Amino acid sequence: MISVAIDGPSGAGKSTMAKRLAAELGYLYVDTGAMYRAIGLYALRHGVDPKDRPGVEALLPEIQLDVRLEEGSQHIYLNGEDVSAAIRAEEVGMAASGVAANPAVRAFLLDTQRELARSRDVLMDGRDIGTVVLPDATVKIFLTASAEARAERRYKELLEKGEKPDYNTVLADIVRRDEQDSNRATAPLRQAPDAILIDTSNIDAEQSFLLLKQTILSRV
Ligand code: DC
Repeated sequence: MISVAIDGPSGAGKSTMAKRLAAELGYLYVDTGAMYRAIGLYALRHGVDPKDRPGVEALLPEIQLDVRLEEGSQHIYLNGEDVSAAIRAEEVGMAASGVAANPAVRAFLLDTQRELARSRDVLMDGRDIGTVVLPDATVKIFLTASAEARAERRYKELLEKGEKPDYNTVLADIVRRDEQDSNRATAPLRQAPDAILIDTSNIDAEQSFLLLKQTILSRV
């Protein structure tokens, strides 16, 4: 089986790139961030602080997550409800970052993630895929960009959605999430020693896509 691991900070374009690459290469796309987001959403809905470790751990036995491929895209079901759209809210991203520091949450998701890669070719994106989830991945990529470049892209996306973002707030949120994800004790965001670094600060989406595709195809 071929497995491609793409890790990197939030807003680096991992999911957009991963989705397109998986479709083009015929691999299953697995968005692991969506799983942390679903747990973050569950905690918010139950009034539990995402950073309250024992509180969130106590919720885990009530959570049934299902990842299904529907019309080529990943849908995530939380106790039977399709939450694929609900998990994209900004506050759910922050809640996901909070629950992701919890070792019980990471252990809860690890088997599901590994199982998905056992029987088919996958392209999986996240923070710890190359370091923890799939340490023997066929290809490992660390996709990054400067915080400013990522904030600018996110700012434009929010404008296009009709929202009224404030650039400095968007940048501050990105910096805070980077800090949380990189400084936690369990499976922090880190480039695996054998991962290829791709920095997209100064290239556009099309150039990034071609570079990633070339990088993968030259190694599988
Ligand atoms: O990629 P994303 O923004 O959807 O991820 C949401 C949060 O989940 C992110 O802040 C960090 C966490 N995460 C993680 O810790 N490990 C992963 N493999 C994927 C996401």
